Amino acid sequence: MWFSRLKWIRSHSANINHIFKRHFLLGIETSCDDTGAAILSKEGTILGEALAKQPSSEFGGVVPSFAMGFHAKNLPLVTQSALDQAQMNIQDIQYLAVTIKPGLGGCLATGLDYVKYLSRKHGIPVIPIHHMEAHALTGRMLEKINFPFMVLLVSGGHCLLAIAEDVDKFKLLGQAVDNSPGEAFDKAARSLKLHSIRPDLRSVPGGRAIEIVASEGGNPKAIEFPTPLSQYMSCNFSFSGFKAQIWNILNFDAEGTSLEPDELLLNVSDVAASLQYGVARHICQRLQRGFEYVRLEEIWSPDQENTLVVSGGVACNQFIRNSIIKICDEFNTRVVFPPMKYCTDNGVMIAWNGLEKYRKGLDIIQPEQVMDLDVSPKSPLGIDISTQVTNRFIKCKWIKII
Ligand code: KG4
Ligand code: ZN
Repeated sequence: MWFSRLKWIRSHSANINHIFKRHFLLGIETSCDDTGAAILSKEGTILGEALAKQPSSEFGGVVPSFAMGFHAKNLPLVTQSALDQAQMNIQDIQYLAVTIKPGLGGCLATGLDYVKYLSRKHGIPVIPIHHMEAHALTGRMLEKINFPFMVLLVSGGHCLLAIAEDVDKFKLLGQAVDNSPGEAFDKAARSLKLHSIRPDLRSVPGGRAIEIVASEGGNPKAIEFPTPLSQYMSCNFSFSGFKAQIWNILNFDAEGTSLEPDELLLNVSDVAASLQYGVARHICQRLQRGFEYVRLEEIWSPDQENTLVVSGGVACNQFIRNSIIKICDEFNTRVVFPPMKYCTDNGVMIAWNGLEKYRKGLDIIQPEQVMDLDVSPKSPLGIDISTQVTNRFIKCKWIKII
């Protein structure tokens, strides 16, 4: 009897939710190549989530026009899938949250247009979301993390170090001036031909392939990768030099084809381990300067618990993780690595950011005004204080990671 009543309640969820005025939020993410949708309750419980991932690596990167078509096709599907999991209808949703910046213009616009359509058709207010702010805040959905905390994003698309002061207040300590660490790993894996020569690595991301090969007895000190931007006392990052160094190692000729198709570098484990160490050391040095800065500026007080949240695909790398933990230990800082599925692009982080804004009454756009919303492909995270950081001339005694 209980079972049949439960079934009845679920199948009539729309009416029940309406009667009891429960609040639910649908988050939509389309800023790059993945289409995400998720439903959160007002209490922050994930009720439904769906993600359609594009096989971008098979095309050698994201193809914007293809990505737009992919989003247009998948948006109704992932939304319906999230609604089905939550056992509700679109009429049960009280707020829509959608990424409007930064990202690929056409992809952002595809997501926003879909949300405008839902908003107008069903009379649902919209909460616009900044993609990087959403990445930065996700950790708070899973653990108690008080403001201010520091956030390090290391992925295929981003690399930045920032202080989150509040839901809508961020200070950018530094960011990548060229490539991201994920790009450096992906390009190195491609140059080293790890995917074509090792069938077992064919379907793993470039960075993971480097990690696996490095773990096969690679000596991290076999090859010296110069530390990027070492002459600048900033928290900015640069990863383009790693690619150049790999090319030097491979002794590429002008066409970049010095290796035969089935030829693998004999010391490939050493190259991978040295690259991984070089990338980890660079990330950790910028992080260490960030910690020194927040101490000097008394942004963090020594008598409260200070937290670093690390997000992005590159944070899957165990060597990089352990290196970051060492720096955090030295600075008596708690480090949080949210589960990978919430660190990479997804709808849940957008819905969560929407919920954080809803709770503070921030940026809630009524259906009558949604047509005025627009996307911004370029949009820095918070206030850029990277020059202030550099002007502090913070010289560090580097903590050894190995
Ligand atoms: O955050 P993410 O999944 O996606 C976006 O950037 O949008 O990051 C993907 C990046 C890729 O470049 C991939 O090679 C890298 O994360 N990655 C790793 C590892 N797993 C994925 N890098 C280093 N070590 C890993 N284990
Ligand atoms: Zn992202």
